[in-house]
Amino acid sequence: MKKNKISKNWINKQRRDIYVRKSKVEGYRSRAVYKIQEIDVKFKIFKNGMSVIDLGAAPGSWSQYVSKNIKSGKIASIDLLDFDKIENIHQIKGDFTNYTYKKKIIDYFGDKVDVVISDMAVNTTGNKDLDSIYTGELCMEAMNFSRETLKNNGKFISKIFMGSTFNEILSAAKKIFKENKVFKPLASRKDSKENFIICKYLR
Ligand SMILES: C[S@@+](CC[C@H](N)C(=O)[O-])C[C@H]1O[C@@H](n2cnc3c(N)ncnc32)[C@H](O)[C@@H]1O
Repeated sequence: MKKNKISKNWINKQRRDIYVRKSKVEGYRSRAVYKIQEIDVKFKIFKNGMSVIDLGAAPGSWSQYVSKNIKSGKIASIDLLDFDKIENIHQIKGDFTNYTYKKKIIDYFGDKVDVVISDMAVNTTGNKDLDSIYTGELCMEAMNFSRETLKNNGKFISKIFMGSTFNEILSAAKKIFKENKVFKPLASRKDSKENFIICKYLR
């Protein structure tokens, strides 16, 4: 399919999408917010006063949601891209896989945190298998980081794609966490390989 045909299809899909419309009415920056909301309702993730790290946060809808649901808590959000300021959030622009930025996050909290969430994804290459491999690598990196930064009863939530890296990621998660679930929210498009891994309690 030609590039301008793909983008026309994308625009039409966005117009018809109920989550896009709902996010505009409710003041969220992206339809992605309904994925973290569904995860939170089902797995009871966020509570007042928690400390949360949001990886791959731009344009910021997950951070907006977390901020509302942890009230007096603390959030640090990182992305390669700049995104508009969100009140009460420590925003960092940089590559999370770079140690300098990991250290910035760790130094900001100065202590272990309650939750690490990651919606990180690479720019799509057009090759679904490659996209899933690259995004799988980001998920593994986020999981290893969460092992270093989470409290013992902490929680890790990450985007994961069904694909060649899926089993490897799941078996790594089982070695690190006591409880592991894979969940596809209704807000995650049916034709996408996207799923989420919800991990609780470090071993
Ligand atoms: C699907 S978007 C996140 C949407 C976000 N959860 C929201 O609700 O607005 C994925 C983001 O991951 C970011 N990303 C990809 N690789 C990254 C990296 N190495 N470090 C930081 N952010 C990264 C991208 O820049 C992109 O903004």
